[in-house]
Amino acid sequence: MVTTTDEHAMERALAVAACARRIAPPNPWVGCVIVGADGAVVGEGATQSPGGAHAEVGALAAAGAAARGATAYVTLEPCAHHGRTPPCTDALLAAGVARVVVAIEDPDPQVAGRGIARLREAGIDVEVGCRAEAATALLAPYLHQRRTGRAFALLKTATSLDGRSAAADGTSQWITGPEARLDAHGIRAESQAVIVGSGTALADRPSLTARDCEPPAERQPRRVLLDASGRVPAEGPLFDVALGAPLVFTTTAAPASRVDEWRAAGADIETVDPQGGGVHLEQVLVALAQRHGVVQAMVEGGAALHGAFLDLGLADRVVAYVAPILLGREARPAFDLAGPATLGDATRWRITDTVAFGADVRITLDPIPTAEVA
Ligand SMILES: NC(=O)c1ccc[n+]([C@@H]2O[C@H](COP(=O)([O-])OP(=O)(O)OC[C@H]3O[C@@H](n4cnc5c(N)ncnc54)[C@H](OP(=O)(O)O)[C@@H]3O)[C@@H](O)[C@H]2O)c1
Repeated sequence: MVTTTDEHAMERALAVAACARRIAPPNPWVGCVIVGADGAVVGEGATQSPGGAHAEVGALAAAGAAARGATAYVTLEPCAHHGRTPPCTDALLAAGVARVVVAIEDPDPQVAGRGIARLREAGIDVEVGCRAEAATALLAPYLHQRRTGRAFALLKTATSLDGRSAAADGTSQWITGPEARLDAHGIRAESQAVIVGSGTALADRPSLTARDCEPPAERQPRRVLLDASGRVPAEGPLFDVALGAPLVFTTTAAPASRVDEWRAAGADIETVDPQGGGVHLEQVLVALAQRHGVVQAMVEGGAALHGAFLDLGLADRVVAYVAPILLGREARPAFDLAGPATLGDATRWRITDTVAFGADVRITLDPIPTAEVA
């Protein structure tokens, strides 16, 4: 049975897990807290960078002998397989913990219940489901990536009050103020890839790096360009390899001379199928997850690319920074999509969070699961 004491300890483990959000991917960001028989916390740990200690191992090391007979609170099912590090279940058993409380099961096919089964087989008392909702929310991008095989696509946009993302002349820097832009750099730091369409690459010449955020980004996201027809020349900050080699997704429609130019500039190139005049977005998200270790891909538009993600049902989260400014009917929309014929057919989203940043507001929205749409 899960008690209030268990929930408090798991709350702490979730806070510890959140600290590993930027460094753990492609592994999940997990927290572990070890509580001794007298109720005192004797060890805490969070997932380290890939190849480093998992949360359980860090917490057990901190606890030392005090782990014997203790309860371990883990935000995700412990692994039972040999990956880059040995199984966490073995570490928990060797340390002699008496009870393990797990928030949620790990959908990764290599784990998927095996960690819990292994502990129970060894006689450990295992509880599953403590603070499951909070753990699911914290790990949403990871859970999505492991269940679907696709990177979690987070669409970020800065819009005017009338839903525009660029003025009539294409200028969009800056719609929002410095506080909102700083926050967006924090999302870049949590993402393993930042994606733009060729329209934005040509108009804005972005660098797509995570800058100025606190704490500073330890790892930069992969900078990704979607350019089906080879419109973007290999120049400017996006092709500055000192900032990291960019990754270009293109199709066979791009001229060989452009592909050679990208390659000579140091870019990595992946050719995917065409789709609606662009690149095949699902293939892009699968490639990012499977070949580039991307858990969360931040899509930074513009309108055409965002619209395509939404039309295809491939947008897993929208983060809209809304500024108190009006740009009018000639300005570009934030999302250029087909849209429903009638209001009743419109897709509704769930607002999960609203926060003010300076003069602007950040709205975070998740799709409503099909099962919940009446
Ligand atoms: N306010 C904001 O948050 C924000 C953010 C970003 C950009 N912007 C503004 O948005 C404007 C650019 O937006 P945009 O709509 O013109 O261009 P965009 O969405 O950045 O890029 C669209 C282009 O991406 C390429 N693409 C590749 N695969 C695609 C696919 N599957 N679906 C759709 N496009 C795909 C296509 O060109 P190819 O056929 O050449 O591949 C397409 O024309 C600029 O003015 C920029 O300043 C604003």
